[in-house]
Amino acid sequence: MADKKAQLIIEGNAPVELPVLTGTMGPDVIDVRSLTATGRFTFDPGFMSTASCESKITYIDGDKGILLHRGYPIEQLAEQSDYLETCYLLLNGELPSKEEKAKFVGTIKNHTMVHEQLKSFFNGFRRDAHPMAIMCGVVGALSAFYHDSLDINNPQHREVSAMRLVAKMPTIAAMTYKYSMGQPMMYPRNDLNYAENFLHMMFNTPCEIKPISPVLAKAMDKIFILHADHEQNASTSTVRLAGSSGANPFACIAAGIAALWGPAHGGANEAVLSMLDEIGSVENIDKFIAKAKDKNDPFKLMGFGHRVYKNFDPRAKVMKQTCDEVLAELGINDPQLELAMKLDEIARNDPYFKERNLYPNVDFYSGIILKAIGIPTSMFTVIFALARTVGWISHWKEMLSSPYKIGRPRQLYTGYEQRDLPSGRD
Ligand code: CMC
Repeated sequence: MADKKAQLIIEGNAPVELPVLTGTMGPDVIDVRSLTATGRFTFDPGFMSTASCESKITYIDGDKGILLHRGYPIEQLAEQSDYLETCYLLLNGELPSKEEKAKFVGTIKNHTMVHEQLKSFFNGFRRDAHPMAIMCGVVGALSAFYHDSLDINNPQHREVSAMRLVAKMPTIAAMTYKYSMGQPMMYPRNDLNYAENFLHMMFNTPCEIKPISPVLAKAMDKIFILHADHEQNASTSTVRLAGSSGANPFACIAAGIAALWGPAHGGANEAVLSMLDEIGSVENIDKFIAKAKDKNDPFKLMGFGHRVYKNFDPRAKVMKQTCDEVLAELGINDPQLELAMKLDEIARNDPYFKERNLYPNVDFYSGIILKAIGIPTSMFTVIFALARTVGWISHWKEMLSSPYKIGRPRQLYTGYEQRDLPSGRD
């Protein structure tokens, strides 16, 4: 909705009138689309001040620490919903009725297996390959197996691809783990729920099928919910950008996985545990806090800080509570958790972190829960990718279901002016 106007005055030129758009919540945005007619562009590396699209899926108030999916607070979803219901909500905009939920779960279960030939793909990777490297390749390769749902202009195809992706990600994620272990890959079991099935494929073997702990399955499900979507973060924006060129959904999600991998984004959960290992014990915390504050040292406190949250990350609050529950249930007394809590306390009372509003983010505690569940560190970001797939595909679908333009940022060129090749070269 545009009812206000902003004026841009560039010295020596007539003022340019720009519409100011108002959303249902959040700050107004200045619509600079007409600026191109003046021969000028805006400059905003890192998208610090730029809304790249309009969306109805997720809302974040970073100052208040609020995260809503389709209007529902993340705390309520984590406590009262389950992952597949949250997936339905993100994809469709409303909570499902009982019948709609049953149908949705049935459809997902219908698609949990992957093409048998996809298995041979894994043999091309080294056994010690990082699972995220395998994920980028194998998820991209899905487009070579599911040709029948690749027409991005067909809403039915988009729907089938979305279902396939949500259903197959746990299978592929567990396959990467089994491959790294040299164990047989496990087929999905459709009598189990989404999280139980994932843990079954991760930890069972054909010669030993152990029951899945309901406490761990519940914790896993919560971790999936907490990672399901987070509006226009780096990986989601990557998926939208790739999708804006008309690329197929499997290729777009593979692009999202690649963007997620970096330690400033989804790779932070793995980096938190490596950092805690490096710190070693409580006596060393001060030394590492000093390193994090030193501008000449690239070290950052992993799991701290966020581009949007300038308050406690609401996902971290739920994560901390789940962490306490899981460790109590398993009777684990984890020295790394004690170290993490001490680090959290010291950092949060330190003026450097206070002044910059650096609070623990979702990745700070998730690693400790995943470790307690028995997930190896190298799989942490894979689990983030598995859970975020529904967010990526919801944004991709949202973009494709109304008019959109190819994403094509401009630049401020600071290189050479035109010049000629030197003459007389051999
Ligand atoms: N440790 C020490 N200093 C920090 C940290 C940190 N973790 N995060 C930010 N700062 C400082 C930064 O150096 C800067 O200081 P100054 O103003 O003196 O130059 C100030 O705080 C503002 O930070 P920024 O880097 O300009 O903020 P940003 O919005 O560009 O970056 C971030 C956000 C998440 C990339 C960054 O906080 C970070 O690298 N954190 C550690 C990695 C991490 O935990 N990432 C997970 C993010 S949540 C999950 C997800 O999105 O995937």
